[in-house]
Amino acid sequence: MPLKLAYMGLNATDLKAWRTFGSVIGFHIEDADNTLLFRLDEKARRIIIRRTSEDDYAYCGWDVGSAEAYAARIDILRAGGVEVVEGDAAGARERAVEAYAGFTDPSGFRQEIAFGIKDAATPFRSEYVKNGFSTGDGGFGHILVKVSDYRASEAFALRFLDGKLSDHVVVGEGAGRTEMAFIHMNERHHSIAFFEGSIPAPKKIHHFMVEVPTFEDVGRTYDRVRAAGVPIGLSIGQHSNDRELSFYCITPSGIWLEVGAGGVRIDDTAWQPSLYDNPSSWGHQFGG
Ligand SMILES: [Fe+2]
Repeated sequence: MPLKLAYMGLNATDLKAWRTFGSVIGFHIEDADNTLLFRLDEKARRIIIRRTSEDDYAYCGWDVGSAEAYAARIDILRAGGVEVVEGDAAGARERAVEAYAGFTDPSGFRQEIAFGIKDAATPFRSEYVKNGFSTGDGGFGHILVKVSDYRASEAFALRFLDGKLSDHVVVGEGAGRTEMAFIHMNERHHSIAFFEGSIPAPKKIHHFMVEVPTFEDVGRTYDRVRAAGVPIGLSIGQHSNDRELSFYCITPSGIWLEVGAGGVRIDDTAWQPSLYDNPSSWGHQFGG
């Protein structure tokens, strides 16, 4: 089974601000011990926000599909010289999974594999995204990570996480140059992307993306975000590589959130990676 991005954990200082933010976006919000849980679909949680003394990315987890695949993946990682640490029962409860194991890539970026991703006991509810965010075989969205060596992180994802190159984007020259690698594990154009260069990242990750069903949902979310006074990172625009229509806003922890729709789905029998010189074909202006 193709790997899917199943969950992400963040550390945050202000859960109250995150609750307000999450309700503006349209997440289904539940409470746990010193933790907010954002639901996007039928799963018990997709984004886990823990109250801590810092604001930053904590972890993300790849659903490998089964106990057998999980054990096999740990063997593959360890055989490749990767240190893998299996999680404890408390960590599995926090993530609502049967079991999970963590490791870091050559750039020091923490990721996890897991299986037994639990469904919620209650139906998904949202005032704004009534039928849920677009997840399914494409996982919950994607993450963009600034790293010290994006080619090493790309190679790690291809070797150990069944990733395939979607495309590269190279923008700017000299000190203004930024290089990006977009990687897919399933039909979603990219589940993770790595970059290095001049574009700053506010935290360990630049942004995470969630997908809404329609362009109208993107526009309506943009209107709600602006009306609520949430800072805009990039105005509405369309990416040149995955054709997704999206905007970026800034979460209470400083990490950006991209809300988008309409990204292409990849058919590996026909896909050819390309090189782009601009991440966006129109829009995506700084600060909205
Ligand atoms: Fe993105």
